[in-house]
Amino acid sequence: MRLPKSVVLLATCLPFVTSMVGPSFFEFSDKIFQITNTVFDTVTTINNGTTTKDYAFSQMDLAVMHTDEMEGKIKEFNSEEVKKISRILLNEARLKPKITDIRMKQNYLVTYYKDTVKYLRDFDVYANSTFINFATRVLSELPNSVTHMTRSVHQQIVKEDFMDLLLERLRPTGNGYFCEEKQSAQELLHNFFNEILLMNTRSYITVNTAYIFKKLYTKGDFHNEITHAFETLKLQTNNLVAVMKLHLARASSELWRCDPNKHVSGETFIELRHFLRGIILNKANLDPNKACSAECDAFTYRKLPNKCNNDNAWCNNQQPCRKIINCHYIDSSMEVCPSKNINRENRRYEYVKFGNGRVFGKKKNCSTRLTYLATYIYWIVYRCSYCFCICDEYDKYSTERTINLRLAMSNTAGNKVVTGLRFVKHNRIIHLQVQEGKLLPFGQIDLSTVRWVPPEDYSIQNKNYHKNEDYHVFTWEERGVDLADIKAENGTVITGVQFKKVGTRIHLEVRLTPFNFTTGVLKDHQSFIIHDPNIQHKHDSGKELKLITTDIPTRSPFPSTRLTTDKYVQFTNTGYDKDAGQTTVPFFDAQPVESTMPVPLSGVGLFHKGQPGYGGFITPKILTYNFWKHLKAVFPLGRNKN
Ligand SMILES: *[C@@H]1O[C@H](CO)[C@@H](O)[C@H](O)[C@H]1NC(C)=O
Ligand SMILES: *[C@@H]1O[C@H](CO)[C@@H](O)[C@H](O)[C@H]1NC(C)=O
Ligand SMILES: *[C@@H]1O[C@H](CO)[C@@H](O)[C@H](O)[C@H]1NC(C)=O
Ligand SMILES: *[C@@H]1O[C@H](CO)[C@@H](O)[C@H](O)[C@H]1NC(C)=O
Ligand SMILES: *[C@@H]1O[C@H](CO)[C@@H](O)[C@H](O)[C@H]1NC(C)=O
Repeated sequence: MRLPKSVVLLATCLPFVTSMVGPSFFEFSDKIFQITNTVFDTVTTINNGTTTKDYAFSQMDLAVMHTDEMEGKIKEFNSEEVKKISRILLNEARLKPKITDIRMKQNYLVTYYKDTVKYLRDFDVYANSTFINFATRVLSELPNSVTHMTRSVHQQIVKEDFMDLLLERLRPTGNGYFCEEKQSAQELLHNFFNEILLMNTRSYITVNTAYIFKKLYTKGDFHNEITHAFETLKLQTNNLVAVMKLHLARASSELWRCDPNKHVSGETFIELRHFLRGIILNKANLDPNKACSAECDAFTYRKLPNKCNNDNAWCNNQQPCRKIINCHYIDSSMEVCPSKNINRENRRYEYVKFGNGRVFGKKKNCSTRLTYLATYIYWIVYRCSYCFCICDEYDKYSTERTINLRLAMSNTAGNKVVTGLRFVKHNRIIHLQVQEGKLLPFGQIDLSTVRWVPPEDYSIQNKNYHKNEDYHVFTWEERGVDLADIKAENGTVITGVQFKKVGTRIHLEVRLTPFNFTTGVLKDHQSFIIHDPNIQHKHDSGKELKLITTDIPTRSPFPSTRLTTDKYVQFTNTGYDKDAGQTTVPFFDAQPVESTMPVPLSGVGLFHKGQPGYGGFITPKILTYNFWKHLKAVFPLGRNKN
C-alpha cells in the first residue's frame, strides 16, 4: 500500500508553539494547508482503491483532531467571537437579515460536521443507508447542502458593505462597542476570520467524508468531484485571506480605555496635586510696598516672600503661596469656606460666595469655619481689596507634580517587548509604566511571561537623579504635554517609552527594536529611539488644546467622547465658577491599556479624552501589531500541491 506524502506530513504536524499563546493566523495557515492536503490525499486514494477504509477513517479522524485543536485555540482567548460580532451587527437594521441568515447556515454546518465526526468514529454501528443518505444531503445542490451553504456564507462575508458596517461599529470612540472590549478592531476581525477559516476547513472535511461514503457504498468514480472540491476550497480560502488582509489594513489597531463606570483616585486616574489652584490674597500681601495702590489685575505674575509682608490675619492663617498668577478683583466682600484639610482634600477652599451673589465652587454646608473678608481702606485713599489669583503652589513636602523622564523598557535581554501601558504614581512621581511579554515566532507573546515592569524606584530627594534629565517638575512656566501617536517602523516592535523635555513641554518617545517575524528574535543591538516627526509643527499657537473654565473631569455625568490628538495641552486650574479653580487639570488616565491577548505594539500615543466643560484625562493609547502585513495566501497560487 502506498502512503501518500501528506499523510506523513500531518502525522508529524507540530503542535502549536506553546499552549500559552493565542490563535494566530500563521499557525492556522500551516494547519489548514496540512489538514486539507491530507484529506484530499485520503479521499483520492480511497477513490483509486489504493488504501483501506480503516486507514482512511483514521486519517480523517486525525484531521478532525487537528481542527479541534484550532478551535481550542480560538475558544481559549475569544470565546464566541462570531457571536459577539453577530450581536454588534444585529443592532444594525440593514445587516440584521444577513447576519441572521449567516448564523442559521453556520448552525446547519456545525450540525453536519458533528454528524461527520460521529460517523467517522462509530462507523460500524450505522446502517449503510445512513451513510448514503448523509452523503446525498451533504453533496446535493439543494439550498441546505453543505456545499451550497459554505458558498453562500462565503459570498456574504466577502461583500464590501458587510465589512464597512462592521468596521464602522468597531470604530474607537469614547462609548459604544469599543468600550466593552480590550481588543482593537483589527484583533477582533482577525479572530473572526480565523473562525471562518476553521469553519470552512471543517466543512471541507464533511464534504470529503461524504465522498468516502459514496465511494464505499455506491461505488463509482468521484475523481473530478474530489478535485473540484479541493480547487474550490483553495480558491475560497485564498480569497478570504485576501479580503481579510484588505479589511484588517483598514481596521483600527487602536486600543485605549474608555471612562470607567466609577472613577477611583489612584486606580482609574491620578492627578497632579498641590500645583495650580485659586487663592485669595489681599493686595496688601501682593504688593511689596503693602500700599494697595495697584489694581488686582496688575498682579499677573509675581513671586512672593516666604512670609506674609504684614499681619493680615487671613494671610497669616493660610498656607503661604510663593508664586501668584493672573489676579482679578471679583467683589468687595466674600465669605470663604476653607477646606477641612488642605493636604487631604487637595484644595484650599470648598467654595467662595461673594457679596454680589456670585459663587465660586459648589456651595454646600460649610463644615469648617466660614470666614468673611471685605475690602478695607488704608491711608484714606487706598482700597485694600481681596484678589482672586492662581497660586503655583510650592511646598516641597506635599506637592505632587513630577513626571519621570527615564526610559521605561521591557527586558530585551530576555527577548521581551512592550505589550501595554499605564500611568502610575510611585514615590509621588508619575511614571508611564510598561507591560512586557516574551516575543515568540509570528508575533506571538508567551502569556506566562507577561507582567508590568515595576517603575524605577527613586524619589526626587535622591541626589543621583537630576531635574530635567531624570524627571521633570511641572511649573506654571513649564506645564505642557504633547499629544501624538508614534508609529513603529516596518520590521520593528516597541521595547520602551520615555518622556523627553523639549522647550517648555514634555513629549513621548519610543524605543524601537528590529526583529525577525518568523523566529521572534529581537535584534536589540540595533534598537533606536524615535519621537513624533511632527513635533516642530506643534509649536504653532493653534496647536494648543485650551482647557478654559473647566470642571473636575470625574464630575462629568457623561463618558469622555471628545478625543484630541496632534495638539498639546497645558496643565491649568479648573474654572472659578465651577470649582473655585481648586483643581489642576487634566488628570492622567491610570487604567491599564493592554490587549486581552497580549501582542507586540506597532505604536503608542497620548491623547486627551474629555467632555466639553470638563478638564478631561491624558490617556495612553497602544496600537496593536499589524499582523495583516504578513498575511499570505494559504495555498500557493498557480502551483499544484505536490
Ligand atoms: C487516481 O486515479 C486518477 C484517475 O481516476 C488518476 O488520475 C490518479 O493519478 C490516481 N492517483 C493515484 C494516486 O493513483
Ligand atoms: C454495507 O457496505 C459494505 C461495504 O461496502 C458491504 O460489505 C456490506 O455488504 C453492506 N451491507 C449491506 C447490508 O448492504
Ligand atoms: C445644610 O444644613 C441644613 C440645616 O442643618 C439642612 O437642612 C440642609 O439639608 C443641609 N444641606 C445640605 C446640602 O447638606
Ligand atoms: C512599510 O510597509 C508598508 C506595507 O507593507 C509599505 O507600504 C510601506 O512603504 C513600508 N514603509 C517603509 C518605511 O518601509
Ligand atoms: C528570519 O529568520 C529566518 C530563520 O533564521 C531566516 O531564514 C530569515 O531570513 C530571517 N529574516 C530576516 C528578515 O532576517
